[in-house]
Amino acid sequence: MKGHRMLVLLLHAVVFGAWAEEACTRTCPTACACSSTERGCSVRCDRAGLLRVPAEFPCEAASIDLDRNGLRFLGERAFGTLPSLRRLSLRHNNLSFITPGAFKGLPRLAELRLAHNGELRYLHARTFAALGRLRRLDLASCRLFTVPERLLAELPALRELAAFDNLFRRVPGALRGLANLTHAHLEHSRIEAVASSSLLGMRRLRSLSLQANRVRAVHAGAFRDCGALEHLLLNDNLLAELPAEAFLGLRRLRTLNLGGNALGLVARAWFADMAELELLYLDRNSIAFVEEGAFQNLSGLLALHLNGNQLTVLAWAAFQPGFFLGRLFLFRNPWRCDCRLEWLRDWMESSGRVADVPCAAPGSVAGLDLSQVAFGRSSDGLCVDPEELNFTASSPGPSPEPAATTVSRFSSLLSKLLAPRVPVEEVANTTEGPLNTSLSDSLPSSGVVVSGHNTRFLLGSGFLLSVVFVLSMD
Ligand SMILES: *[C@@H]1O[C@H](CO)[C@@H](O)[C@H](O)[C@H]1NC(C)=O
Ligand SMILES: *[C@@H]1O[C@H](CO)[C@@H](O)[C@H](O)[C@H]1NC(C)=O
Ligand SMILES: *[C@@H]1O[C@H](CO)[C@@H](O)[C@H](O)[C@H]1NC(C)=O
Ligand SMILES: *[C@@H]1O[C@H](CO)[C@@H](O)[C@H](O)[C@H]1NC(C)=O
Ligand SMILES: *[C@@H]1O[C@H](CO)[C@@H](O)[C@H](O)[C@H]1NC(C)=O
Ligand SMILES: *[C@@H]1O[C@H](CO)[C@@H](O)[C@H](O)[C@H]1NC(C)=O
Repeated sequence: MKGHRMLVLLLHAVVFGAWAEEACTRTCPTACACSSTERGCSVRCDRAGLLRVPAEFPCEAASIDLDRNGLRFLGERAFGTLPSLRRLSLRHNNLSFITPGAFKGLPRLAELRLAHNGELRYLHARTFAALGRLRRLDLASCRLFTVPERLLAELPALRELAAFDNLFRRVPGALRGLANLTHAHLEHSRIEAVASSSLLGMRRLRSLSLQANRVRAVHAGAFRDCGALEHLLLNDNLLAELPAEAFLGLRRLRTLNLGGNALGLVARAWFADMAELELLYLDRNSIAFVEEGAFQNLSGLLALHLNGNQLTVLAWAAFQPGFFLGRLFLFRNPWRCDCRLEWLRDWMESSGRVADVPCAAPGSVAGLDLSQVAFGRSSDGLCVDPEELNFTASSPGPSPEPAATTVSRFSSLLSKLLAPRVPVEEVANTTEGPLNTSLSDSLPSSGVVVSGHNTRFLLGSGFLLSVVFVLSMD
């Protein structure tokens, strides 16, 4: 009995499979290859020299790839009615106009990729009408100046938006109120500010990238609705100062990247809400001063990057009363290795979590690493500063920028690596170290990966950093 039922099932599977295969290939457009996969009927028409969308697709199509053709225009219902279509990719075409309603007839579409259509520039507010199930939208590198206010309101299921490498000067107002969006990629544009109303109502946002824009201002309370945010990348912008309440409400934040800005000091109030912060990047700024208690309460911090600044001294009071157990990156600062840094030298010795603190002063120890400095003791046991020497023109003097160690070079790359779309060659050129290009190539993604085709779509920063950390600690 059982065997019989198995046979029927098997036969059913074989017959059904053959039927599905035939249905998928029967109406395959001539320029395309159609095949029945476990994800359904897949239609591949990439690099086929197409100048217009084929007139007909298999009715069963679950995914259509039209990347790298010469499509310039999408008319209304450009793809007909495809009730099973979940994924549509139109990257690297030459689309300059998309008729409102072009994607009608695709009720199950979950992922739409339009990246690298450099002639697109503007989108009509009704472009995405009827895409009620769309979860992922890729609008990267389309030379868009803005996004119409109502454009994304048509997409109630939208979770991930990739819109990096465009010409936005503001955070698009269309993002406001997108209560279901979890990932927003807005890096490599021309955004100048994060205004207090820019991110209103984005209550599920988990990662936001604004890196490599022109952000000069973050208004107080700008993130107050973003209580779910875990990764915030503001690195490589033009921030010279921040209001005390800049990051108010970011209670779940795990990564904050402020590297590559123009900050002159670290204020005590900035990180007050961030009890869960694990990675804090303040590298490549002009920081000369860290306020007392600034890193207080960051008890979960795994790494703090202060390299590439103007620090001469760092008081233990910056950490008090917290107990900081993470790694501290301090290279490329003009450290003054006097008694005020004795705590740090002791900590280097005992914890092994700090290395590479080059002394620029006083003269007698300039050029040495802090770990090599022996502090003298007075008769009553107090620390005595190393001497100030006056160098003459002929004396060798301290090397202005001591060679960075492997760990240092490696870590200075981290914040750059967070850019999901930096071309691999570019990363390779800044590497010169142990990091091979394959690392950035194989970045794992966090969150939901629908197709796994483009790992840069998502941030993946947390994972990347933890991987890198394991590597850098051996
Ligand atoms: C793309 O379209 C524009 C006009 O919209 C045209 O000038 C350009 O030559 C096209 N480029 C290619 C590669 O077809
Ligand atoms: C969020 O998603 C839910 C369920 O899909 C939907 O009912 C709701 O309208 C969405 N909210 C917004 C603001 O789009
Ligand atoms: C650290 O936490 C304590 C207790 O919750 C709080 O009083 C203090 O203001 C916090 N420090 C900072 C810098 O936020
Ligand atoms: C170094 O020079 C400064 C003035 O340029 C002088 O005040 C100081 O005493 C000198 N120190 C030594 C150790 O000669
Ligand atoms: C990388 O360096 C090589 C040789 O130094 C150069 O030819 C190439 O253009 C560089 N690539 C980038 C992306 O800078
Ligand atoms: C990176 O790896 C490839 C192959 O694994 C190798 O050919 C290349 O030399 C490596 N580059 C560096 C900079 O180590």
